Amino acid sequence: MQNTDSDIARAGEILRGGGLVAIPTETVYGLAANALDGTAVAKIFRAKGRPQDNPLIVHISHLNQWERLVSEIPENAAALAKAFWPGPLTIILPKSDIIPDEVSAGLDTVAVRFPSMRTTRKIIDAAGVPLAAPSANLSGSPSPTCARHTMEDMRGRIDAVLDGGECNFGVESTVVTLAGPVPRLLRPGAVTPDELREVLGGLEIDDAVMGKLKEGVKAASPGMKYKHYSPKAEITIVRGTLVDFLKYIGKAGDCGEPNGKKFALCFDGEESVIPVNCVTYGKKDDPLTQSHRLFTALRELDERGAERVFARCPSTDGVGMAVYNRLLRAAGFSVVNANETEE
Ligand code: TXA
Ligand code: MG
Repeated sequence: MQNTDSDIARAGEILRGGGLVAIPTETVYGLAANALDGTAVAKIFRAKGRPQDNPLIVHISHLNQWERLVSEIPENAAALAKAFWPGPLTIILPKSDIIPDEVSAGLDTVAVRFPSMRTTRKIIDAAGVPLAAPSANLSGSPSPTCARHTMEDMRGRIDAVLDGGECNFGVESTVVTLAGPVPRLLRPGAVTPDELREVLGGLEIDDAVMGKLKEGVKAASPGMKYKHYSPKAEITIVRGTLVDFLKYIGKAGDCGEPNGKKFALCFDGEESVIPVNCVTYGKKDDPLTQSHRLFTALRELDERGAERVFARCPSTDGVGMAVYNRLLRAAGFSVVNANETEE
């Protein structure tokens, strides 16, 4: 389906009737169902192969739809909504009784997001109900950022995909919970911790956000339970300068793969000096170009048959935290410090 009024109306009908439609948003494509219909929501889990204990985000198209989804809206939540909605921020609060268990995965909280993309809001309006929507990838794969990637994962599993073009931001929304004693960042995204702190005062960053960064400086970090956002290739993030990176992949050159299967995931323009196959993921000092490209680049690595990938490490400042967080999971927390391998 295309981004026309009649296709949007059709998507609304399918969703109202309990079907599944993949929809564009400003972050990534979502796999939507009527959030108030537990039977419809259960189909999302089957289509994605998603673990039952992973709750979904509920999407609204007008601020006044929020109230009935949660038990109450505290002042700090209202302040966040005023500052960042509509936009790529998800806010978790204690849920109301109308949220089915399938959405909250048995928790007593619900995550709500008011997306900024006009098409997304029109689809929610056309459905006439809030929409539960996780990213529209098969569980474990990189989130889709265009209709083609969505179709690759979801063909034959859902009722329709609405093509709204490429997602602007390219990685998923910032997730913050206000259900605990102190506001806590659960997933970094386009809305940065500094921006949240300006509104909230205090903000804790959940340990899972930066994963094993501190211990992982020297070598691959053990202990990860599962990979996420993952292509088939084995990825290692290489910390250090471009010169360090070149030395490192030179040394790691004899790791058994034929050269055709070895790739660098690097910044724009670096292809000319890196002596293996390259896939680029944005400009070195511009995290918004990196977030826009990252998931597409991860899928390209698969399309080109990469088996072993060495990735340039992004800065973790601002929006860079979201880019690093996703790349770290794609790499199964495998990080090496190219400087220290010199010693
Ligand atoms: O940008 C986005 O947020 C996209 C688009 C489609 O809106 N959606 C998305 O959904 O990324 P999903 O399901 O792929 O990621 C939602 C994340 C998961 O890590 C989930 O565990 C967490 O939010 N989450 C959802 N509800 C929660 C809750 N009640 N408590 C804690 N975490 C929750
Ligand atoms: Mg997801």
